[in-house]
Amino acid sequence: MSVLVTGASGFIGSHVVDALVAQGEDVVGIDDLSSGSLDNLAGARSSGAGKLTFHRLDITSEAVAEAIARTRPEVVFHLAAQVDVRKSVADPVHDAMINVIGTLRVLQAASESGTDKVVFTSSGGCIYGEPDASRLPVTEDQVYSAEAMPESPYGVSKKVMLDYLRYFRAVKGLDYTALALSNVYGPRQEPASEVGLEGQVVAIFSRRLLGGKPCTIYGDGTQTRDFVYVSDVAAAFVAARKGGSGELINIGSGAELSVTDLYDRLKALIGVDLEPAHAAARPGELQRIVVDSSKAAAVLGWKPAVGLDEGLGRTVEYFRAHP
Ligand SMILES: NC(=O)c1ccc[n+]([C@@H]2O[C@H](COP(=O)([O-])OP(=O)(O)OC[C@H]3O[C@@H](n4cnc5c(N)ncnc54)[C@H](O)[C@@H]3O)[C@@H](O)[C@H]2O)c1
Repeated sequence: MSVLVTGASGFIGSHVVDALVAQGEDVVGIDDLSSGSLDNLAGARSSGAGKLTFHRLDITSEAVAEAIARTRPEVVFHLAAQVDVRKSVADPVHDAMINVIGTLRVLQAASESGTDKVVFTSSGGCIYGEPDASRLPVTEDQVYSAEAMPESPYGVSKKVMLDYLRYFRAVKGLDYTALALSNVYGPRQEPASEVGLEGQVVAIFSRRLLGGKPCTIYGDGTQTRDFVYVSDVAAAFVAARKGGSGELINIGSGAELSVTDLYDRLKALIGVDLEPAHAAARPGELQRIVVDSSKAAAVLGWKPAVGLDEGLGRTVEYFRAHP
């Protein structure tokens, strides 16, 4: 039986495809290539272990249901999304069309096609809002706290789907695991713009510093994030194929790193001495976020294997080789 990955040619999706193909799986990938690239699937296509079939499809279209009905996948790994927080603020309808309606199409088609389980990609940086400092690192149960108010329509979409997933599991018998990812970084991450998205700060700084260009830090740089390496995230998706039935599970490093510290580490790794410019903090950005991943360890047997120095080193080498 096959497994299906939406957002297959994107940054994280392509690493999930790699991990599944390496295990000998028969993988069907779906992506509309709006931000993903077929180049990201080159390794999976030539791996010789499992098999990859790719369909260029928009998850908001009827065609996605037909593809799922034809494939009858055992598990759907759902990563396709509108991922730009600022675009979601500018056009919440467009964001919801993809992240809510598109996801519902995938869930509906999966439940009608006998799929056992959907592994959904939620966001640990968005669904909890700005937690009180005393509640960090944030645990999954806090998604029900009064503070858990997403700051953007993107965050709302990543939270509201948790209710839909529960509904489909209870009423339609479609199992799920929702992975709340912290800030994912690594090879193949492409900044959406020069300003970039919050989660893409490693890619933006790396590319600019390698090109000898100055970087801008928004706010005073003391804001912290939880950076997790992409191959570790892919391993969590593979583990969620069987584990974590009906659960929301945080996937992060558990360590807080300030944006200034990140900048200094990358500067040292790349060997340049460029001071960053500073600009006003962007509205809606969190000051501190770090997720508690002890549930992932207990339920999925998952722990991050790639430390920050190693992960940043690999990422910089990737961007050096792909200017
Ligand atoms: N990168 C992070 O730090 C992070 C953190 C939390 C959650 N996530 C989630 O992880 C998932 C993957 O994100 P990513 O960082 O790899 O970004 P990405 O942009 O590289 O991946 C998203 C993929 O979805 C595809 N896509 C977009 N709209 C589509 C549509 N209508 N139909 C079919 N395909 C469509 C894009 O072409 C792209 O390949 C997303 O669900 C995102 O919300 C990412």
